[in-house]
Amino acid sequence: MRGNPPVLAKTKNILVLNGPNLNMLGVRQPEVYGSDTLQDIAKACAAKGKALGLGVDFRQSNIEGELVTWIQQARGRDAGIVINPAAYGHTSIALLDALTLAELPVIEVHLSNIHRREPFRHSTYISQIATGVICGLGAQGYLLALEAMANLVTPKKAR
Ligand code: DQA
Repeated sequence: MRGNPPVLAKTKNILVLNGPNLNMLGVRQPEVYGSDTLQDIAKACAAKGKALGLGVDFRQSNIEGELVTWIQQARGRDAGIVINPAAYGHTSIALLDALTLAELPVIEVHLSNIHRREPFRHSTYISQIATGVICGLGAQGYLLALEAMANLVTPKKAR
């Protein structure tokens, strides 16, 4: 047989990580973070991923080391990482180091506009290595991040 065998497209997987206290969305300061629960956001991300042809692995942890381990495991396995690091974004060099060693496109998401809030929220370690940062758009920020990720991880010819 001549020519190349048909290339079977492998679904690209995006790891969507959520940091501490985001499991309390829905009841946690809805005037700041909105009324969607994390489960609502997970469902919306799964649907968006399906529409974009991406696999979505959506996780939350209150434990910094668990997030670090998940990021390490994404290296060489996943196509990109969307992360709402929550408060760890403002404090965690360990998350910054893990995201750096993952060598993947990273989109940082915050539900609230961190720049309109207390000064200690204005900067994050992760934004130093993030491909892009989305904040202030509530749950929609996750969906926009997945759209941007689809463009980042899909070769131009295939689009
Ligand atoms: C947050 C903003 C952080 O400053 C805060 O600590 C959070 C949530 C957001 O999504 O707006 O826990 O990441």
